[in-house]
Amino acid sequence: MKDSFIEQISLNKSINAVILASGRGSNARALMEYCQTSENQNAKNSWKICGVISDNPAAGVLQLAENLGIKAIALNYPKGTKEDIQARRNQYSIDLANRIKGMSEKIDFVICAGFMKILTKDFLDQFKDPSLPLYRVINIHPSLLPSFTGANGYADAFQYGVKYSGVTTHFVDEQVDHGPILLQDVFPRHADDTLDQFKARGLQREHQLYIKTLKVIQNNRLRFVCDAQARLFIKVNEE
Ligand code: GRF
Repeated sequence: MKDSFIEQISLNKSINAVILASGRGSNARALMEYCQTSENQNAKNSWKICGVISDNPAAGVLQLAENLGIKAIALNYPKGTKEDIQARRNQYSIDLANRIKGMSEKIDFVICAGFMKILTKDFLDQFKDPSLPLYRVINIHPSLLPSFTGANGYADAFQYGVKYSGVTTHFVDEQVDHGPILLQDVFPRHADDTLDQFKARGLQREHQLYIKTLKVIQNNRLRFVCDAQARLFIKVNEE
């Protein structure tokens, strides 16, 4: 990719994806339901969810997927000590990449939807875009990145006393809650909000934003721009 050159992501008719999730699965559900709509199925490039994988065998998302006729697998995260966390993370990443690839002959995207494990570079390398300097792995984070990274985005923003917060979809890179931003949406924190009310308002925005993100990708509205420092930015074309 040359400096400041604008490129598109190349897509085939079907965009095969696997969802990774660790818990309740409300984002995963919104995405799976969107994929079953005629809007998706009649689009030039339609998303197909080939399966859902969770690191948590008790995660509600597994049952949700099965109810929608989508293959669901629990791939337990190996238990161990603090000292061997890196070795376990590496091993898990290899197993996870293999399970994802086993779900379809061709996997175009990995969609993280409340997946609470860190993905290694070896994992990401398995899903490199063929022509752009990015991985075809996307995530949703419950804050306006780069603020409030980490596992408790809503609680951290609420406790900080923000007047507005937001939700972000982004491509995943080697750092946690980092990588080129796809879309963001903002919502207010009302003066009398409890944390639960604040979270519920944000979660609704997450579902809408993640579906919008799938639409933007499938309708080929993304343009990738590299600056002179080889930093990648994303522009979203108007419909
Ligand atoms: C969401 O708030 C997501 O942004 C965060 O974890 C939560 C998962 O919720 N990483 P759900 O499982 O999609 O309902």
